[in-house]
Amino acid sequence: MLNRLNHIAIAVSNLDEGIKIYKDILGVEVSKKLALPKHGVTTVFVKLSNTNIELLEPLGKDSPISNFLIKNPSGGVHHLCYEVSNIKVSVEYLTNSGYKILGDGIPREGAHGKPVIFLHPKQFMGTLIELEEV
Ligand code: CO
Repeated sequence: MLNRLNHIAIAVSNLDEGIKIYKDILGVEVSKKLALPKHGVTTVFVKLSNTNIELLEPLGKDSPISNFLIKNPSGGVHHLCYEVSNIKVSVEYLTNSGYKILGDGIPREGAHGKPVIFLHPKQFMGTLIELEEV
């Protein structure tokens, strides 16, 4: 079901500091900031040759990453995103196999304008997993 690793996401409390570390200190290309109000985050993508690193900063009061940053004040790895060919088929298969899709289970538009869903970390070895249709 899984294809490539699309990105590893790191939650940060200050996106500009994260951009500075990757762009100025580590010397890699970082995309422009993108606000995703529906997901409660502002993101940038750090572009590597084999994958991307997504930096996430909370946006708005009810951001889904606020609690994570309270528990991890200096930031931390938040989720892994794997590519799938057909997200509806993946959702159906996982739901029928007893796995929980976060939220209402309906794919929503993610940071690349493509449908994404998230899987509960309790059922995936403590790792929040994002699936993106690519
Ligand atoms: Co992501």
